[in-house]
Amino acid sequence: MTVPQPPEPIPGARLLFSLDPSVSHLNHGSFGAVPIGVQRAQQRLRDEMEANPLRFFTQGLVDRIAHTRRHLATFLGADPDGTALVGNATTGAAIVLQSLALGPGDEVVTTDHGYGAVGLSVDRECARTGAVSRMLPVPLTATDEEVVEIVRAGLRPGRTRLLIVDQITSPTARLFPTSAIVGVAREHGIPVLVDAAHAPGMLPTTVASVGADFWVGNLHKWAYAPRGTAALVVAEQWRERIQPLVVSWEQGSGYPTRVEWQATLDYTGWLAAPVGLFTLRSLGVDRVRAHNAALAAYGQRVVGDGLGVAPADLPQPGGPTVAMRLIPLPPGVATTMDAARELRARIADRLSVEVSTAAWNGRGYLRLCGQVYNTPDEYDRLAVRLPTLLAQG
Ligand SMILES: Cc1ncc(COP(=O)(O)O)c(C=O)c1O
Repeated sequence: MTVPQPPEPIPGARLLFSLDPSVSHLNHGSFGAVPIGVQRAQQRLRDEMEANPLRFFTQGLVDRIAHTRRHLATFLGADPDGTALVGNATTGAAIVLQSLALGPGDEVVTTDHGYGAVGLSVDRECARTGAVSRMLPVPLTATDEEVVEIVRAGLRPGRTRLLIVDQITSPTARLFPTSAIVGVAREHGIPVLVDAAHAPGMLPTTVASVGADFWVGNLHKWAYAPRGTAALVVAEQWRERIQPLVVSWEQGSGYPTRVEWQATLDYTGWLAAPVGLFTLRSLGVDRVRAHNAALAAYGQRVVGDGLGVAPADLPQPGGPTVAMRLIPLPPGVATTMDAARELRARIADRLSVEVSTAAWNGRGYLRLCGQVYNTPDEYDRLAVRLPTLLAQG
């Protein structure tokens, strides 16, 4: 089989970023990268804030946030009245969990593809309330239909108070059939939280079409927003119950303002987030999505080849615009979280390449991303050098 052709580069796109050119940044998925124009826009807002903090915070900031929220919600295809800006996906998930008034006898169901920190949040909420959590194992190679059936079989109507599924999974870079899963849960009256941390900017799917009770997504990954910009979208019947983690002066304002306003924070990242969308639109949203997914697929194949992984053994993401791909590491490599972290640091230090590594169900994986600032030769070099680094132990 031949390696898929890398996509045509998007001219000038790399120059939009201030990334260190001596490093290959192949892990956009973890913390994103903020285009220079967005950084500047945020700095202008900070200048305004520092010129007169009293005026900035007390004259119109709540309205500016509301205006920004509506703009971002429209991009996401979400109901603006159901959307609240929050700092990150982890916060959004915690807000939902602690708003549900869980108690003894209740359970929260997750999958083994879920994000670690969200899992810890579930654990803490269960410990606090007497609820329990149950994790459904989903094989890496499960088809969409199999995933839906696993979830269907794993729900316990009357006991399951929340199902959490990821739209694109972090350790396994897999697109889950979230709207079908939501449909199954709805048949049993079980609410669903979709952790869509990677979806904004990467997937064309609208939030409305997912249809979840709760949806949380980061704009600071694939939508080029400043860090600390995420959206929590809540279906109408739940909005009254949603409480912020921290009570502020806006507590009486109702959802979403009481969730958004978290006292004296730096809100300039949210206000600058539309400039990230402008950057994405200027490059062409569809073009960026196709480019990134194709480049990640190329990277997966060349690095997989370098490690001797047969193309048939390379996990497929399950969607045409998923810009993250997984490569199984040789047996025995990075099989624990600590070992995976150590390997990631070693690849960064010795090869000047930033990647993500994960230990998942006893196997180590490398996760590569494609982004407009990446070029095929970055993956080619990794493919040549990684086997030697792994052989050195
Ligand atoms: C699926 C998923 N959920 C949640 C998060 C957490 O995002 P944040 O650190 O912005 O809260 C991530 C981060 O990569 C993720 O991949």
